[in-house]
Amino acid sequence: MTVTVSFVLNGEDVSVDVEPRTLLVEALRDRLRRTGTHVGCDTSQCGACVVHVDGRSVKSCSMLAVQAEGAEVVTIEGLAKGGRLHPMQEAFREHHGLQCGFCTPGMIMSALDLVSQNPDPDENQIRHWLEGNLCRCTGYQNIVRAIKAGAQAMRSA
Ligand code: FES
Ligand code: FES
Repeated sequence: MTVTVSFVLNGEDVSVDVEPRTLLVEALRDRLRRTGTHVGCDTSQCGACVVHVDGRSVKSCSMLAVQAEGAEVVTIEGLAKGGRLHPMQEAFREHHGLQCGFCTPGMIMSALDLVSQNPDPDENQIRHWLEGNLCRCTGYQNIVRAIKAGAQAMRSA
């Protein structure tokens, strides 16, 4: 049995047929081909799958696709506009906030939720916020720097 789920994805109306048990991340990656959202675990711990649902960060592996009905969903593919990276993406690039890049989409989507609530987070607040996002490469130092710089760029934009 399948059900049709309709929502707004990166500003476009989409509809997709899914099984009731299909996870949002599976619908995004396997059905809608937005593969920038990654799957790094099966225990809802890594945060590689973070997207925005109605403006808040959500681990898309811990939500059913049918729960997105009528919602506004933004993935990492939805951030760049007119061929220009979002200031937070640019900050990760500038400050070497990534190595393999696997965790990066989730880090950026989580960071943007933090900055939407706290436009000028300090290092402790950033580290605390990132408890749900794991990176096996960087040691986090440059990720924290990138988020501080990205927040500053967004404030002055
Ligand atoms: S895939 Fe690891 S938390 Fe979602
Ligand atoms: S950059 Fe490789 S997991 Fe974070």
